[in-house]
Formats: sequence, structure tokens, C-alpha cells
Amino acid sequence: MADDPRLLADTAGFDLAPGDYEAGRPGYPPQAVAVLVEELGVGPGRRVCDLAAGTGKLTRLLVVTGAEVVAVEPVEGMRRTLAETVTGVTVLDGTAEAMPLPDDSIDVVTVAQAFHWFDRAAAMAEIRRVLVPGGGLAVLFNERDERTAWVAAFSEILEWHSHRVSGYKATDWATVIDGEGQRTIGWEQPMTRSTLEARVRSISYVALMDEAEQQRLVTETLALVGGLPEPFPMPYLTRMWWGWPGR
Ligand SMILES: C[S@@+](CC[C@H](N)C(=O)[O-])C[C@H]1O[C@@H](n2cnc3c(N)ncnc32)[C@H](O)[C@@H]1O
Repeated sequence: MADDPRLLADTAGFDLAPGDYEAGRPGYPPQAVAVLVEELGVGPGRRVCDLAAGTGKLTRLLVVTGAEVVAVEPVEGMRRTLAETVTGVTVLDGTAEAMPLPDDSIDVVTVAQAFHWFDRAAAMAEIRRVLVPGGGLAVLFNERDERTAWVAAFSEILEWHSHRVSGYKATDWATVIDGEGQRTIGWEQPMTRSTLEARVRSISYVALMDEAEQQRLVTETLALVGGLPEPFPMPYLTRMWWGWPGR
């Protein structure tokens, strides 16, 4: 996997820490699922592709809507955790740039916390190909809400702003996806020291560091929440953009 020619080098980190990803990463709030249902028609009788599904943090919520869900994910370790964690979903190996799906076969594509890894033009061409005419696309990102001081300090420790993932903030996603709607939802993930440690180790560029460096980041991060009783809230802003590029 480390040299998967389909993917950017940093994504190799996802193959090293799928368990930490599943334990530490946030899901998505009910209001985000409500947008997918109400605006894009996700539900029974609709075929939804969760692209770059990871361990299935969004996938499992799509299944609950009654939609027929296929998950596409290129990293073997993530796919394995997804298949063990989420039932009622078809899991396929594939990338955004070469989706393993027929033309005109999907009603809605979702991309959660992943579009920054894609070749945008190639991915959009593939998404348009697999969508039925009038088909929809939703892009979601969970952003740590840095208005809380320890969360801002956490981002500093991770040097998050110097890494590729932070580039999504400077991206005009409405233009990239030809979007027509957007929403921001504030919510909180309950955390313990153990899940916060997993959160640190789940970051692709952290998982690729040696153990001593990873442990330094974990120790510095845990010091930020030393006085907080468990569970303590980790505040997030889920940012969503959607449109109908299949039209
Ligand atoms: C931060 S994770 C997000 C996973 C999941 N969607 C979630 O919300 O938790 C990013 C995922 O994108 C996948 N990925 C990276 N490059 C990709 C590509 N070119 N095509 C499809 N998936 C890709 C990674 O393997 C990883 O599982």
C-alpha cells in the first residue's frame, strides 16, 4: 500500500492506523444526514456511493436512511475495518479518479473528509460519469472548532495548518463541485484521553512518523486536556456543500 501508484504518498498513513481512525475520529451529526435526506433525497430506493469511505463513519449513517449504499475506498486496512464495522453495505476497492461503478448507476455520491486527496478534475469527471442524470453530490468536512482554546492549541501541536488537509479551507468547494447549497453545523464529540490519543495517531501524516515522535505529540496533546473530567467535548464544525453535477 505504501507505494500504491493510485494515491498520494501521505495516504499510506491510513493503512497503518485504521483502528485509531475508527476509535478517535468523529462521525457526522444528525443534521448533516438530514440535509442529505431532505436536499438530495437520500433514502429508500436510492443508490448512494460513499466515495473514500474510510472506516465508514458516514457510510453507516447512510445505511440507516434505508438507501442502497456502496462504499468505495482504496486503502485495504480501511476497507477491512469498514467491512467489520458496518453491515448492509457493498464495499469496493477503487479511487475517485477511477470509480469501479458503471455509467449512470448512482443517485447520490457523498465525499466526507476526503476531496482534498483527489485529483479534482479527474474525480469530478468520474462522479459525473457514474451519476444518473440529475444525480447529486455532497462534500463534507469536519473542522475542529478552534474557537475553543485547547482545540486551537491542539492544531498548533499537530502543525495541522502546514499539511495538505488544511488546504480544504482555502478551496471554493461550491465552484469545484458546481454546488448550489451549503451548510455549517456545530456539534461536539464526547472524548476520553484514550480516544484523543487515537485521534492523534489516526492522522495520516502522524501515523507515518516514528513511534517516539508520535508519542511526543500524544503527550503534548493529552497535557492540553489534563484538567478536564471525562468525557469532555471536542467541538467540530461540519461544513457541507452539495449540488447536482449529474444534471
Ligand atoms: C480522512 S479519511 C475520510 C474517511 C471517511 N470518509 C470519513 O469521513 O471518516 C480520507 C480517506 O480518503 C481515502 N482516499 C485518499 N485518496 C483517495 C483517492 N484518490 N480516491 C479515493 N479515496 C481516497 C483514504 O484512503 C481515506 O480513507
